[in-house]
Amino acid sequence: MDLPFAESYKIKVVESIHRSTLEERTNWIRNAHFNLFQIKSDQIFIDLLTDSGTGAMSDKQWGAIMTGDESYAGASSYYNLKDAIHDITGFPLYLPTHQGRAAENVLFSVLVKEGDIVPGNSHFDTTKGHIEFRKASAIDCTIDEAFDTTAYHLFKGNVALGKLEDVLKKSGDNVPFIILTLTNNSAGGQPVSLENMHAVKKLADTYNKPVLFDSARFAENAYFIKLREPAYKDKSIRQIAKEMFSCADMMTMSSKKDAIVNMGGFIAMRDPELFRQCSMFNIMYEGYITYGGMSGRDMNALAQGLYEGTDFDYLETRIKQVEYLGNRLVEFGIPIQAPIGGHAIFIDAKRFLPHLPKEEFPAQTLAIQLYLEAGVRGVEIGALLADRDPVTRENRYPALEMVRLAIPRRVYTNNHMDVVAVALKNVFDRRNDIRSGMRITREAPIMRHFTVELEQLG
Ligand code: F0G
Repeated sequence: MDLPFAESYKIKVVESIHRSTLEERTNWIRNAHFNLFQIKSDQIFIDLLTDSGTGAMSDKQWGAIMTGDESYAGASSYYNLKDAIHDITGFPLYLPTHQGRAAENVLFSVLVKEGDIVPGNSHFDTTKGHIEFRKASAIDCTIDEAFDTTAYHLFKGNVALGKLEDVLKKSGDNVPFIILTLTNNSAGGQPVSLENMHAVKKLADTYNKPVLFDSARFAENAYFIKLREPAYKDKSIRQIAKEMFSCADMMTMSSKKDAIVNMGGFIAMRDPELFRQCSMFNIMYEGYITYGGMSGRDMNALAQGLYEGTDFDYLETRIKQVEYLGNRLVEFGIPIQAPIGGHAIFIDAKRFLPHLPKEEFPAQTLAIQLYLEAGVRGVEIGALLADRDPVTRENRYPALEMVRLAIPRRVYTNNHMDVVAVALKNVFDRRNDIRSGMRITREAPIMRHFTVELEQLG
């Protein structure tokens, strides 16, 4: 008999979590104005709000914390991290930042100006925010299959080369760079193939444009390349990652995902002139260039995390857990983005609650129902997140209206996944009783989803 699959780690430290009653949750969510960001973490049983900064560090990472060097300038921890980044990505130059959006802020301060157009594959919301804040615009050139959760495509994160070339032809002068988000978070943690990366780089070279990788989940992307792109099946994750980064001129990194730390980020590049220009903004916004918003100990843990995050056994354990939850939901007939992505399950709220109009925020309605059912927190990735058009101020209704269940790394067991699956099944079984959705009562002018207040209709 074949031995069953099991995790490639054992557990040394644990943290208690608690169940609550429906009555308690009903009160808590009302007090939070039906916004799951406003709920206290001890009011949650299983927290799938994000896989960002929520992973469990290893004994080796905690060990590295003890040897952190907190010198203001020239800390050994800076150089440890420099070596790890160079080793894994091939980029010789880097600047630490406190997280991914800080990396975007510093880099875009140099590269993005009013009127610019930044094409890419479904820019993450902070990326888009930093572009639009500078009165520039982001154009999504992801392949159409990504926006149909029933369409099967192994690399739904891919850029449609035709769409990208149209932008370059029409507005080339205003394009400062092309951005590839690996994996494509907004489309469902969907990978980009190496074939597509090479093709994007070739097109970018033709138009003399640099390529930026938003690399938050680059290792999960590399794992999918190994499994799904036949030419790479015998390559190691690190060999694949090196080849991926050979298609980029620069990268931003939210280290809170694939580098399995609770806080941190960086920008890396090859061009010394870009490094010099970014250094100025890094010093202004983040800190001196050899710590830039991070403690020495955190840079040490990150250096170690980059190696652990690119280990095949770890990635297999991680992605198989996401798949486990996804497969259980599919068994129950629950509509999710297919194929199952790297860091999360994306539930298609339009297919789950087809009778709710988009103006009533079906994905937020579903996320609230899941919380009420079992104290499970997911997050809306739909019209609330898509926010209003900066010019017309009209609500934007994206093609995909989803609830994301993001799985923290090395944190929950498959028993937790079973609870989530059954909770969703229960909501699915009573979906026709959910007759109405939600209405906004208060919202911020930008990135409204974090603080928006809502009420239930009906
Ligand atoms: N890029 C991508 C693809 C992301 O998913 C995120 C964050 C960022 C950039 C920004 O990084 O949070 O370190 O400032 N994503 C989190 C999420 C918040 O829940 O998906 P950050």
